[in-house]
Amino acid sequence: MSRIETERLESLLASVREDVVRWRRHLHAHPELSFEEHETAQFVYNTLQSFGHLELSRPMPTSVVARLVTGRPGPTIAVRADMDALPIEEENDFEFKSTRSGVMHACGHDGHTAMLLAAAKVLVALRDHLVGEVRFLFQHAEELFPGGAQELVNAGVLDGVDAAIGQHLWAPMETGRIGIRSGALMAAPDTFRICILGKGGHAAQPHLTVDSIVIAAQVVTNLQHIVSRYNDPLRPLVLSVTKISGGTADNVIPGSVELIGTVRSFDETLRAQVPQWMERIVKGITEAHGASYTFEYQRGYRAVLNDAEVTARVRAALVEAFGEDVIVETEPTMGGEDFSAYQAAVPGTFYFVGAGNAAKGIVYPHHHPRFTVDEDALPIGLRALVFATLRLLGV
Ligand code: NI
Repeated sequence: MSRIETERLESLLASVREDVVRWRRHLHAHPELSFEEHETAQFVYNTLQSFGHLELSRPMPTSVVARLVTGRPGPTIAVRADMDALPIEEENDFEFKSTRSGVMHACGHDGHTAMLLAAAKVLVALRDHLVGEVRFLFQHAEELFPGGAQELVNAGVLDGVDAAIGQHLWAPMETGRIGIRSGALMAAPDTFRICILGKGGHAAQPHLTVDSIVIAAQVVTNLQHIVSRYNDPLRPLVLSVTKISGGTADNVIPGSVELIGTVRSFDETLRAQVPQWMERIVKGITEAHGASYTFEYQRGYRAVLNDAEVTARVRAALVEAFGEDVIVETEPTMGGEDFSAYQAAVPGTFYFVGAGNAAKGIVYPHHHPRFTVDEDALPIGLRALVFATLRLLGV
């Protein structure tokens, strides 16, 4: 084993610049929904196979794991990319726009997959200089609970792994910046479904009904007390009712109303408390007005909590790769990510690679029909992955 020369590393990174854009465009044009990434996984498998020197496996039909085993003592570092697209009709009009109606890479996972492929290509070329093992996780189904990460963890893909890293192309941040932070980065996204069960009847005779609409309105209003009055204002919490369904006509009081929505938090104690508060409110209001209810609460992914030591080491690697000015302490977001499933098993860190560019009109939010990433962010993310992996290996 010998120290990697800077010149060699730089020339390898430069040599895959076209690949990473080409792969991203191919994936962008051929998006697949969560748990359906068959062609994507096959493309990834074939591409990895062309690099040689990797032990490939398919833990699920739509995921791929590649192990670069050096045979020399050292840590095992897992590097993850997610591969799934979203049920959105693309409104972009570039050459490589989605060829599949109603399906679109609207979160940047096409870029994540392309960057990890390119990182694998570079690290395979550097294999004689590496120690331990690099394990590349091409994960299916990040967008759809229960998510692919937990399935991969259950399949043992983290066995023997010392640390895991992942990154997200991030449109709210301009290209040329990387945001990282220790501790809480992304929230635990839970969901709920409440049914208010009243008694329907003629709208002209409200006294003969139990009006589920009026009761539902009270429930929606009172649920707001949880964030504004029950919760400590210094603990982040979101509670949003995002859908109300009930009623059929202007002269009918409906017998039931359904409310669904999301709760996002970081703190596990708070997270356990919220459904109890919610049900107390729903129970109290429905009882007060002679209605009944059903209440379902679904815990989603865990919060993304970045390990202090791994984050510090990755941050140092990124500062080395890009300079201090590029690396910013990012704010946490109430969005969710199933990268947290890996972090529940091994120490890990997840960070954001800026991919917005107002000058190029790349301003749309993630999951928007006109979302795209600035392709200039791809070599940045690739460089970040390679430097972070090398330094975590200790080379
Ligand atoms: Ni995403």
